[in-house]
Amino acid sequence: VNKPIASHPLQNSTPPAVETTAGLSRRALAAEGQPISFLMHKALAHPELVSLAAGFVDPVTLPVELTRQAFEVVLSDPRRARAALQYGTTPGHAPLREAVLDRLLEADGQGHLVEGAVRKRSVEQVVMTAGSNQMLRLLFDTLVDAGDIVLTAAPTYFVVLGMLGNIGARGFGIEVDEGGLVPDALEAALLRLKRSGELSRVKALYVVSYLDNPRNITIDAARRGQIVDIVKRYSSVRHPIRIIEDAAYRELRYGGEDVPSLLSYDLEGDTVIHTDTFSKAYSPGVRVGWGVLPRDLVEPLLNQKGNIDFGSPNLAQHLMAAVLESGLHGTHVEALRRAYSEKCTAMLDACDDYLAPISGVSWLRPTGGIYVWLTLPEQLAAGPGGPLFDQALTEGMLYVPGEYCYPSEGVGIAPNTIRLTFAMQTPERIRAGIEALARAIQAVLPADATARVSRSAR
Ligand SMILES: Cc1ncc(COP(=O)(O)O)c(C=O)c1O
Repeated sequence: VNKPIASHPLQNSTPPAVETTAGLSRRALAAEGQPISFLMHKALAHPELVSLAAGFVDPVTLPVELTRQAFEVVLSDPRRARAALQYGTTPGHAPLREAVLDRLLEADGQGHLVEGAVRKRSVEQVVMTAGSNQMLRLLFDTLVDAGDIVLTAAPTYFVVLGMLGNIGARGFGIEVDEGGLVPDALEAALLRLKRSGELSRVKALYVVSYLDNPRNITIDAARRGQIVDIVKRYSSVRHPIRIIEDAAYRELRYGGEDVPSLLSYDLEGDTVIHTDTFSKAYSPGVRVGWGVLPRDLVEPLLNQKGNIDFGSPNLAQHLMAAVLESGLHGTHVEALRRAYSEKCTAMLDACDDYLAPISGVSWLRPTGGIYVWLTLPEQLAAGPGGPLFDQALTEGMLYVPGEYCYPSEGVGIAPNTIRLTFAMQTPERIRAGIEALARAIQAVLPADATARVSRSAR
């Protein structure tokens, strides 16, 4: 998945010899074979499969009526309608930028530590994009050159690893545990890179700080300030290191307490970039995301964006502004949380019933989000090259191999891991999918393994 850096098309001066690639740019070659395309192809080719793979949202709770009403509000006022149907500005629709910043301040306003810091941010620092993926890509385009290093949690959101590969950057994995990214491991990695003379190539730490993809873990409140402090200590005026905090799943919490963002611990306002999206808590079809940036990055990022689309779809932003104005978004999120909580319970119950009897299989129990992270016995590789992946297809289900979620440097890949999602399927299909996975594991697990492998703690 993550091609060895030496053979990366952006870093290799020898033109590719293969005939089918003639005429393609190095960037096009670097974009080949991304896991997302492979998995979508599998799902489309086998519509009968129970897909516990794609991170699509629950179709039943999509806000059809609320969206209809919000469109009505936008389109029934000719002045507003014309503004929405016209090109917008590069940074996006100002009332929406204000609204998302206000919501962030409100969510972070619980801790005395965070208040002053967050309120230093202003609407000029908010840029709207076509989904937060676009913001992430713009950030990497703005900060990272081929050969530069981006630290990530290992495992992490695999689409970001694809983006890094596409620009020829090196992903470097940092250890995680049940409290999220481990601060000591972050410090050790930075020290190691400093000693090897590579610190100046480290441009960013990317981390999904709430209910992450793929493990569905939130970084502990106690670690947040430490993480920001460590990065600041290794950052310098000549070689700044930024933290890209991806908060895509923050609102999908149905247990435990919310915690302040990493952004709120950046008292100087020069280190943390906060990205978020309406894709998970409203609708991915609308595809509105955004970033809150340090002041010095706003213009360089807008210059990138100006060269791409000089503004993301304006109608979608007007729509989301009307949704927030309606005051009904919170009610919708409550309904979502209930629906996901039910589906999560269905998946965990099915895991207890079908997977618990298999020795060496363990999983994390989420308190929000849409994923369950599964660890298999060590000798069982879950990737498409191993026996389990095809056996699972034969049994009727599709999962995301965990190995896709590891960068090629730093923490080693754990091939015996799986990301499951419960978002798309009904509780009955979730159960059927887990039952099929259990059959597949049993079919490929060596008969003596059950005796050899001791069951991990849950
Ligand atoms: C962690 C994370 N960040 C960002 C995104 C991108 O969402 P969008 O581009 O739709 O805003 C996703 C989508 O799955 C995700 O899982």
